Amino acid sequence: MIIILLGPPGAGKGTQAKKISEKFSLPHISTGDMLRDNIIRNTALGIKAKSYMDKGELVPDDLLLDIIKVRLSEPDCSSGFLLDGYPRTLAQADALGKILDNTGKEIDVVLNIHVDDEELINRLSGRRMCSCGASYHVLFNPPKKEGICDSCNGELYQRNDDTPETVKNRLAAYKKLTEPLIDYYNKKALLHTIDGGKDIPGIFGDIAKVLEEI
Ligand code: AP5
Ligand code: MG
Repeated sequence: MIIILLGPPGAGKGTQAKKISEKFSLPHISTGDMLRDNIIRNTALGIKAKSYMDKGELVPDDLLLDIIKVRLSEPDCSSGFLLDGYPRTLAQADALGKILDNTGKEIDVVLNIHVDDEELINRLSGRRMCSCGASYHVLFNPPKKEGICDSCNGELYQRNDDTPETVKNRLAAYKKLTEPLIDYYNKKALLHTIDGGKDIPGIFGDIAKVLEEI
């Protein structure tokens, strides 16, 4: 099964992707996580991407193409995968279409997680991350001990791009460049819109229902 998760910053793509990946045994491919990993490792891609990400702008399409091509050709993706944060522009959607055509694969479903702007800002301002990959929210999904990761006891931190000014730019980039993908995939009859305003288990229940029918 090939699934695309679409939705604005803070919609809960990463949170739901973890749960989908576990239940349906699919590799979770997050371009945001891949870029942050490149930044930590100080690669050429990471150095270029950082300047865009810190401002809340999208990284140029051509910088993403190689890493996504390589990742999708890895053995664990042979029978399906879950894309979180890719594609994010019409050019990326076309590029992904070509990669899949060349390998005889097709997208099964695009899950569009819809959340109002005010709620997105609340979610991003309260998000806390751990270097092990776990993600929390100070109010909506708190760790057992404040500031400490439940899984690895690591110290939680706030993402660089979760500051109010950067969040404003990320939402603007989403509306200008990513929102047109809703129409793009709707025309291909692949789109399912999910009410992302519910609690985390409620949203996952709705997503699981859609996926079980495919
Ligand atoms: P990326 O890391 O993908 O960030 P994003 O799309 O802005 O989305 P987020 O990860 O911030 O939010 P999310 O939807 O995953 O929400 P989460 O589950 O964490 O990309 C970062 C940057 O990388 C981009 O700005 C761009 O520069 C670059 N980039 C990445 N991919 C690119 C591409 N393809 N092309 C170009 N550039 C690219 O949840 C958020 C918070 O809410 C958490 O605290 C969580 O606990 C909480 N929460 C989740 N669900 C709920 C709920 N139902 N109720 C209450 N709280 C909830
Ligand atoms: Mg995410």
